[in-house]
Amino acid sequence: MTTVRIDPQGPLAGAVAPPADKSVSHRAALLAGMSTRPVRILNYLDAADTNSTLAAVEALGAEVRRDGEAIVVRGVGLRGTRDPGRPIDVGNAGTLMRLLPGWLAAQEGRSFVLDGDASIRRRPVDRVAVPLAEMGAQIAPTDGRFPPVTVTGVPLHGITYVLPVASAQVKSCVLLAGLLAEGETTVVEPEPSRDHTERMLTLAGVPVRRSGDRVTVGRIDELAFPEQFVVPADPSSAAFWQAAAAIVPGSRIVVEHCGVNRTRTGFIEILRRMGGVVDGELEPALAGDEIASGEPVSDLVTTHAPLRGTIVEAHEVPAAIDELPLVGLLGCFAEGETIVRGAQELRVKESDRVTAVVTALNALGGDAEATPDGFIVRGTGGLRGGRMASGGDHRMAMLGAIAGLASRDGVEIDGMDAAAVSYPGFLHDLARLR
Ligand code: S3P
Repeated sequence: MTTVRIDPQGPLAGAVAPPADKSVSHRAALLAGMSTRPVRILNYLDAADTNSTLAAVEALGAEVRRDGEAIVVRGVGLRGTRDPGRPIDVGNAGTLMRLLPGWLAAQEGRSFVLDGDASIRRRPVDRVAVPLAEMGAQIAPTDGRFPPVTVTGVPLHGITYVLPVASAQVKSCVLLAGLLAEGETTVVEPEPSRDHTERMLTLAGVPVRRSGDRVTVGRIDELAFPEQFVVPADPSSAAFWQAAAAIVPGSRIVVEHCGVNRTRTGFIEILRRMGGVVDGELEPALAGDEIASGEPVSDLVTTHAPLRGTIVEAHEVPAAIDELPLVGLLGCFAEGETIVRGAQELRVKESDRVTAVVTALNALGGDAEATPDGFIVRGTGGLRGGRMASGGDHRMAMLGAIAGLASRDGVEIDGMDAAAVSYPGFLHDLARLR
């Protein structure tokens, strides 16, 4: 575990190209693994989480090779997985742990065990086991709830599943299983969650029907994933730079070529409402590479401005879920109170992020309070600084570093190495903006 000290900084200026989108990369590897013709994935995220997904599709029989800048995956087809002969290790990757059972549950005559690190073993998988079991799947989480989980492939049938909480991971798992199930499968969402799976399935020739809050797919024989796919930059990684520019006086940071799919841009909308200045278009028309990838991108420019507190309501949570800890950080620098509600899902992320963000902000001189479904931060005009621990959570590690840049005395982060889960070049990019 590495401890890193980040000292306060004057204005941050420059341009940064954040790493590739983690959610899109996971899905690109999985869907390429489910196809039969080779897929060239450009700008695949080279980070711990998404390397776990490449290793998983390889263990299932796909061929994965690097070709210059690209990752080329030759998949095994929808029903052609091989028995990996050992447990599949998802590492820290919750998305892989939740999506993969959707594919594996229908691999008749084969059995799989999915396991991961200590954090993964604390994160619930019953949320995917319940709908899959309704589809006829044989899936057995440990103690009915947690990894390791055993999946035995059997024939599935379609269902209509009303998601109890908005979760793109659960939605995606059920839709993937739906491609292999008899009849039609519909997922009903309480709030729109990220729709990368639906966009990619459409690109792969699957008739995905969206009607209001319902998404429907049917059984197919083959996926025709595009021969080339370009992953956009990750808005969740970009958010650290937008937060940094917003709270370090005099800053101006350009985030280049960032994914701005509307189901992911909640943080930018919240920041703008707090008085933040973020110039750039959200969800512009697709052009160039984006037509082939189905994901819109923009250059976004964030400039320092005084912030005021805000209330983030439950309906805003899915589009900002991974950035809500940063909303708490902004709250320390804003005038008045910042309240996040309806975000109980934060408690089952890579760490309990309600507890983690409140503990970290208070350790650094902030005034934060946990609630059952979120937190309240009272703006104090800044942060003193001090020492905090990432708890092995990549997003908490990077939040600590951004807090350090804007603090009075600097911040020491224990476990900064966790950033490699989604953003291995984070400290390098930070050094370039100083
Ligand atoms: C993800 C969806 C979100 C998010 C996670 C990645 C995805 O989780 O927090 O980091 O790639 O589908 P939920 O869908 O469970 O909210």
